[in-house]
Amino acid sequence: MLLISYIYRFILLINRNFRCWRFIILAMMIYFIINLYILLKQTRLNSKSIFGNKYLRQQSLQDKKKNENIQNIRKRSSSSLCICENNNKKTLQSHSPISPEARLRYSFIDIDDLDVDINYLDEEYRPSQQLNILPPSPDSHPYTRILNVKGDTSVIIYNRLPQCYEHTMGLFLQDISYLHSYTYISSQIYVPFSYNKSALVSIARSLNKHKFKQLIYERHIYFFDYYALQFPNHPVWINLVRDPMYRIAAEYKHSREICRKTNRCFVQQDAINETLDECVIKRSPKECISSDNGIARMLPFFCGLKYSIECQEENNWALKQAKQNIDFFYTVVGIAEEFYKFLYVLEKLLPQYFKLARILFMNQHDPKILADKRDINVRLPNKNTTKILMPFLKYEYDLYNYIKKRFLDQYNMLLELDN
Ligand SMILES: *[C@@H]1O[C@H](CO)[C@@H](O)[C@H](O)[C@H]1NC(C)=O
Ligand SMILES: *[C@@H]1O[C@H](CO)[C@@H](O)[C@H](O)[C@H]1NC(C)=O
Ligand SMILES: *[C@@H]1O[C@H](CO)[C@@H](O)[C@H](O)[C@H]1NC(C)=O
Repeated sequence: MLLISYIYRFILLINRNFRCWRFIILAMMIYFIINLYILLKQTRLNSKSIFGNKYLRQQSLQDKKKNENIQNIRKRSSSSLCICENNNKKTLQSHSPISPEARLRYSFIDIDDLDVDINYLDEEYRPSQQLNILPPSPDSHPYTRILNVKGDTSVIIYNRLPQCYEHTMGLFLQDISYLHSYTYISSQIYVPFSYNKSALVSIARSLNKHKFKQLIYERHIYFFDYYALQFPNHPVWINLVRDPMYRIAAEYKHSREICRKTNRCFVQQDAINETLDECVIKRSPKECISSDNGIARMLPFFCGLKYSIECQEENNWALKQAKQNIDFFYTVVGIAEEFYKFLYVLEKLLPQYFKLARILFMNQHDPKILADKRDINVRLPNKNTTKILMPFLKYEYDLYNYIKKRFLDQYNMLLELDN
């Protein structure tokens, strides 16, 4: 309307008098200002519908009170959990109550958080007959696949590795899921990482028939191939890794702390007070970084559960399988050392989940630190220990470097497309 009347007046004015140009410029400026005002109002209304009045007030104060804002976001993130819980409670009533027997039988599933229908899980699973999506053959992964979103975006599975910026990531996922109003579930099931085929089918079904609009499901679990379980679809997989020496140092310390403070002990009792440096002198280095000593390996997280026994080995076959799974099934595997770039890649590849990720993240933290303190205060073992351990981490570093290169390639390609 405005535009039409403006053009009409414009033509009239030109016909009457050329000196009216000044008027025209003025009208143009007013027109743009009005439009800008309307646009701003609309975006404000949108954000209002998500956050309510309280957030709007907070937002207008944002520039002045950046420090206070960190606390506000923290508060919101804790309230986001409440929203999830309320939703779950509401919908729980829609299913018949879950018997204690069923709870026990499906103890490896987040029944309440995912709001699972047990009757559906109990139904016999009939593998899909329409497996028209053939997994890509090993010889044919063109470089461009690197920027594809691999899978159905209604579920993202983040099969979190221990001690790879998990606190930073957890806080961030809470806030970003709240910002875009989707569901983020961090599983409370910590072990095991490995399941048999029938359990995996149930886990996959519980994630397939969820009622959420969008879902990020985070859990310490080895990768599993939906196609191998004969599901016609595949979720989006993401992950975040970290330099193996840092990860192992952090995990060594953390698993001992957990053991001392809680009942969850994955550490030999007599080794509970040892530092990693002391351990490699007293015991065999291999033992110090084994699962008996509370250290998980990165390789099986990607090698996966299709060949669960072979994937526990550290050899070239397992390494190749892990790389292949990453190429075929992982939309992005970031590295903690480049967390900000990780957010950028997420933003570009999965905008429906991660739009504004970097801005949110920068607002969340003290700009000088940019990560949760618990994730960055890692004391590395001394030089001797490092030297002793390095040969035992050969496959870990090989995979880590492979992930790093792929990730930086992704980042650089996206950056180029952006410019
Ligand atoms: C598979 O694992 C589930 C849960 O871990 C267990 O209850 C079940 O007995 C296992 N099935 C087989 C065939 O081992
Ligand atoms: C480890 O240290 C704690 C406290 O310093 C002590 O109570 C405990 O007995 C120690 N455990 C071992 C196995 O040395
Ligand atoms: C490292 O090993 C060398 C020789 O084996 C030894 O002299 C040195 O004290 C060790 N350093 C530490 C920090 O243990």
